[in-house]
Amino acid sequence: MHPHIRFTPENNELHLLDQRLLPGQEEWFICRTAKDIIFALQEMVVRGAPAIGVTAAYGCCLVAATADPVSPGWSRQVDQELNALAATRPTAVNLTWAVDQMRRVWRDRPHMSLEDLRQVWTEQAMALHRQDEANNRTMGVHGATLLRDNDTVMTHCNAGALATGAYGTALGVIRAAVEAGKRIHVLANETRPFLQGARLTAYELSKDNIPVTVCCDNAVGLLMTRGMVQAVIVGADRVAANGDAANKIGTYTVAVLAKRHNVPFYVAAPFSTIDFATASGADIPIEKRTPREVTHIQDKMITPPGVPVLNFAFDVTPAELIAAIITEKGVLKPDQLISFRSEF
Ligand code: MRU
Repeated sequence: MHPHIRFTPENNELHLLDQRLLPGQEEWFICRTAKDIIFALQEMVVRGAPAIGVTAAYGCCLVAATADPVSPGWSRQVDQELNALAATRPTAVNLTWAVDQMRRVWRDRPHMSLEDLRQVWTEQAMALHRQDEANNRTMGVHGATLLRDNDTVMTHCNAGALATGAYGTALGVIRAAVEAGKRIHVLANETRPFLQGARLTAYELSKDNIPVTVCCDNAVGLLMTRGMVQAVIVGADRVAANGDAANKIGTYTVAVLAKRHNVPFYVAAPFSTIDFATASGADIPIEKRTPREVTHIQDKMITPPGVPVLNFAFDVTPAELIAAIITEKGVLKPDQLISFRSEF
């Protein structure tokens, strides 16, 4: 996969491969202001927790780039725009994590000029982007040891290069296993309603020649009954301190079925997705998205007019259903996370 998030510091533009249009069209959405970034995050031009974090970090750069250095109120304006950026999607903790990282360097040098802040933030955002890819590659090496040659691995949503700075979390583990010479077949659940599995996971794996088959979300039970799945690996939007993990709606259902059929269920997530301030999954905010994602397929309405719709974007898988959490620090049992609390 080629890079899908490209920042050009010379002119302060962020180019995002528009994920709303994949796989049919490869078009770039250009962000020049914080408003553009907020639109891109809310409308899911870019999505996936670590990719949201990387985009938000570059968003801070655009906030600084567009602030007026001669206005005495520039720092208040920057502060307000950062708050707006951090509020765009509630579940993916990488968003607030990334904005906090950027704020921290500002807080350490509060009297910095706007020009210096622009410079420091550009370096910081690019470093955060590089670090995300490095973490994913390390997670891949750790997680690949859990997969065997000829395994069929199910995944839900898209936790690949497109959902991160590069390489992917769940798909990073699969990529690393393939790079280590294992033959892995991927079952991508289609992931209604935004179809991250059918559109994005299938797109990026087929581009990399990794065998992938798309399945309807409601086929999971049958596939497991038939012994067609050896492992499940998913990403996460936020992992609570006790190891409960929020991920795309439907993940919990897959985890319950995996338990029933003795299929190991793994979560691949960097520490930027682990939220030690949230005690358990019950405290994780769950994003509700527009009914239109459910009522329409492209421009065609498929439900009767006036019928209400529930469109929760995420659910929470309790730690007891998770065999291990694959992180850049190694493969951990969910209850081992807490021992890393003081480090973060
Ligand atoms: O609504 P989305 O597409 O942003 O949801 C994304 C997911 O649920 C991913 O599985 C998660 O962010 C992990 S991405 C490495």
